[in-house]
Amino acid sequence: MTQFLDVHELSQFVRNMGPQHLMAKLVDYLEQDYLNWAKFDKSARLAAHSDVGVIELMPIADDQLYSFKYVNGHPSNTAQGLPTVMAFGVLAEVATGYPLLLSELTLVTALRTAATSAMAAKYLARQDAKTMALIGNGCQSEFQSIAFHKLLGINEIRCYDVDYAASAKLKANLDCYTDLRLVICESAHEACASADIITTVTADKRLATILTPDMIAPGQHINAIGGDCPGKTELHRDVLTQADTFVEYEPQSRIEGDIQQLPEDYPVTELWQVIAKQQPGRQNDHQITVFDSVGFALEDYSALRMLYEFTQQGDSELGQTLGLIPHLSNPKNLFGLLVNPDGDTGQFKFQPLNTQMTNSQTKPSEPTSFSKSNRPVAV
Ligand SMILES: NC(=O)c1ccc[n+]([C@@H]2O[C@H](COP(=O)([O-])OP(=O)(O)OC[C@H]3O[C@@H](n4cnc5c(N)ncnc54)[C@H](O)[C@@H]3O)[C@@H](O)[C@H]2O)c1
Repeated sequence: MTQFLDVHELSQFVRNMGPQHLMAKLVDYLEQDYLNWAKFDKSARLAAHSDVGVIELMPIADDQLYSFKYVNGHPSNTAQGLPTVMAFGVLAEVATGYPLLLSELTLVTALRTAATSAMAAKYLARQDAKTMALIGNGCQSEFQSIAFHKLLGINEIRCYDVDYAASAKLKANLDCYTDLRLVICESAHEACASADIITTVTADKRLATILTPDMIAPGQHINAIGGDCPGKTELHRDVLTQADTFVEYEPQSRIEGDIQQLPEDYPVTELWQVIAKQQPGRQNDHQITVFDSVGFALEDYSALRMLYEFTQQGDSELGQTLGLIPHLSNPKNLFGLLVNPDGDTGQFKFQPLNTQMTNSQTKPSEPTSFSKSNRPVAV
């Protein structure tokens, strides 16, 4: 049966494991999948835009697994008591199309985005980086902070948000990380001064300029997360022109990233090329590097693949079984569900990933015979 992970179960799981441990593990999955770049059937995500936001579908597949994520981005949502970003997704087996996992992905998106940022910074930030400016202190900010603190050794975060309450929430949520110094700044300028890394993770559906060239210094790495949609940017174009820019999947980033402001021939390097050692990452301590992140389907694929493997471990209590797909004794008799609604729809144990089904699972049973008592009611 399909495994199901809801928000409650997943947050409990992440709390028990520790977000830093989960993100460290996720970086391993991400690197593995980025190294297999050529094996994936990739496309830019499909976006439905409105004046206030966007709803996107993000599919990807290799020859074993297919995944997609449904995700939105509505910066005005928080004023209505809803998160800016909400998501769920599916992992399916390519050989049969059977959905293996249906999972909440709002929390997972924050984890995978922060894990991807930390992975990119491993190749692009200076080795001696110790301080990070964090502009935008909403839902993603704690995850970014923990990933950079625990995976890269950042020990001071200088945060700024137009909404002071968001910064205060961030500081309170990270109180338990006693080795991490969190400084609330009064402006983005103040936060960026002398920072080794700058993370921008704001939400505003317009061509914003959170970072201007006067805020940038040689040797910095810029982790730009919030410019991820046509007409929605964070970096002044001249921040990009004085930097070397790295992206996830160029065809999608040209449409959605901060590089949408620049001509089509502005040079960028795809992250997988750096991970695969085909292109250099940071080359010296003076270079300015930008990770112009928009979020790519491969990152959700990696996260779903990891979560599904967690549900399949022998002693795992993670995941509930979900009757999403009918189990038919005779796979040609879908109508049988209406004839005998209490049939064997609930007990099917799907064996995914190259394992053969047993004869008893595949063998068609005798066709269901109609009797007057179990004849379906016409609707
Ligand atoms: N690249 C990716 O993979 C990826 C993944 C997830 C989210 N995102 C993007 O990251 C952004 C943040 O997401 P979130 O879930 O944290 O949103 P959120 O609404 O919870 O937080 C955004 C914060 O930005 C602040 N802000 C807005 N304009 C600002 C400005 N000019 N200066 C300083 N702060 C400002 C808001 O006050 C808010 O606290 C969104 O734009 C989202 O689309 C990108």
